[in-house]
Amino acid sequence: MTAIKDAGSAPEGADAVHARPDAGSAPVEVLGLRLRSPVVVGSGLLTDQERNIRRLIEGGAGAVVTKTIHPDPGPSGNERLLRLPTGMLNNTTYSRRSVDDWCAMLRRFADDGLPVITSVHADSPVQLADLAERVTDAGSGALELGISCLNEEGGGLEDTPERVAAYTEAVRRRTPVPFSVKLAIGERVRERIDAATASGADAITLSDTIAGLAVDADTGEVRLGGAFGYSGPGIKPLVLAEIFGLRRDGLTVPVMASGGVKDAVDVAEYLSVGAEAVQIYTALHRNMHVTLRTIRQGFDDWLASRGGTVADLVGQSVKRA
Ligand SMILES: Cc1cc2nc3c(=O)[nH]c(=O)nc-3n(C[C@H](O)[C@H](O)[C@H](O)COP(=O)(O)O)c2cc1C
Repeated sequence: MTAIKDAGSAPEGADAVHARPDAGSAPVEVLGLRLRSPVVVGSGLLTDQERNIRRLIEGGAGAVVTKTIHPDPGPSGNERLLRLPTGMLNNTTYSRRSVDDWCAMLRRFADDGLPVITSVHADSPVQLADLAERVTDAGSGALELGISCLNEEGGGLEDTPERVAAYTEAVRRRTPVPFSVKLAIGERVRERIDAATASGADAITLSDTIAGLAVDADTGEVRLGGAFGYSGPGIKPLVLAEIFGLRRDGLTVPVMASGGVKDAVDVAEYLSVGAEAVQIYTALHRNMHVTLRTIRQGFDDWLASRGGTVADLVGQSVKRA
């Protein structure tokens, strides 16, 4: 059996790993979209530009989730990224592009048949339902509700099942397209997931970033000025444990995993604990296109040498437990 290739060993240079997007592809169905791979690019700064989204799809992404669109993203603040040995802290919030600009872009993606999942959030359930309707009218075939961004609350978002239900219900009433609700692991996560599914979510994305803090030991200064979104390899075991536990406890709703994927092995691990698709984000902040292609190709090659389909892999750890 071929060992899964590690993105960390990817050669430098944008053209060092060539895309073979459809050679040995591993199709899955997510949010009503037939994707050629379970490897999906998650929402973030890298998915705020049309050019990047198109190149990521050309490079093999099964789908790309847009940066979260917000009708009133507020003034652009001092948005920063801080690299840590185990991942990254960021205090970013929403796209600064207008909804009109996004709708024009989403129309072009739809016309070209591109697998783009539109991430949306707003200040109230009714405002989010309006936005969901607008992006749906612009041709979006699948949405992700990015309702759990803790950065807006300075790390202190108190997400509750009631809040999740209110946003989910409002959107479900106004749009027929499939959508996933993105949540963060943590307190009452099973209740929040159940609230989303009972209110009409078609899938769950787990996890958004979780609150993290970095301090300068000499001066006592809190870096970035507070607790903000922590992502990257450090959160992977936590998210894996959560998805494994949820599946073992009988959760059946489709799950898109998100948290710390850096190579093809990580993709296989998330599928094994029961995720149907796997998002990658922070790892793409280094050598974006090479890293994506290496992970996507590494996973396809491994699956081809092993035989079987992605569906055979999904949940195999849970069946063994
Ligand atoms: C710089 C940065 C910006 C992000 N922006 C968004 C966003 O706009 N909407 C969203 O739903 N998630 C956002 N995320 C969260 C990622 O999509 C992802 O869920 C999270 O970082 C965990 O996955 P990872 O460890 O692979 O990055 C952002 C993450 C980072 C690091």
